[in-house]
Amino acid sequence: MNPSVLLRRSGWITVTVLATAIALLSARYLTLDPETFLEEQRATYLASLAPLTLHVGGAVLALALGPWQFLPRLRLRWPRVHRLLGRVYLAGAVATAAGGLLLVPKGLFGPIAPAGFAALAVGVLATSTAAFAAIRRRRVARHQVWMIRSYALIFTGVTFRLWLIVCSAAGVPFEQAYTSGAWAAWLVNLLVAEQVIARRATGPSVRSGRTVQP
Ligand code: HEM
Repeated sequence: MNPSVLLRRSGWITVTVLATAIALLSARYLTLDPETFLEEQRATYLASLAPLTLHVGGAVLALALGPWQFLPRLRLRWPRVHRLLGRVYLAGAVATAAGGLLLVPKGLFGPIAPAGFAALAVGVLATSTAAFAAIRRRRVARHQVWMIRSYALIFTGVTFRLWLIVCSAAGVPFEQAYTSGAWAAWLVNLLVAEQVIARRATGPSVRSGRTVQP
């Protein structure tokens, strides 16, 4: 198999497995059982059940659905399914950001960590809106590029948790790990997204005409 196809497929599988695992783990919050909540924030979350449910409900949908939207076969064979899942993804992304913004004032380790989450929420809203606006104008390649950025930001739900695990294994105190992760987790994702976008611009799908330039 062509090495770039192998890289793309293994990347997609890794992203999908991690996203599905974190979506399933996070879905425990939707039972509203305080025992399942982050211990440090249990009282806060109990007092904010509506924004928490909006946030986690939207995040679970967007995180789990996102990878399937990038499959060319699904998009080309079942465009209606792609459109329907795309709308659900967008609603999920908006709910993630809106719920996240409502949780920001009560977030742990303010002001640095909540500011990182607020910037992330604004990024999710901006990139998802740009992706939607592009497809309404039939700008397919521009839509794809903004969707890569939007999903990279949503994928912070995975990288932030991986960051905490790696920091804990390295002996970094929880507060430092949490505060640095609230910024680093999405900045790293955006950098990776820009790499993916740059590779696509010169990749075989563009040369063969399967992707239209923005
Ligand atoms: C991408 C945009 C996101 C933003 C702006 C965001 C923002 C936030 C904020 C501000 C909190 C409260 C943190 C605190 O109490 O200190 C939070 C908690 C939480 N978020 Fe997100 N989040 C995002 C994505 C996700 C994703 C994709 C998931 C997973 C599906 C997720 C799952 C959770 C969960 C389960 C909590 C409760 C605390 C925990 O167990 O970690 N979030 N989020």
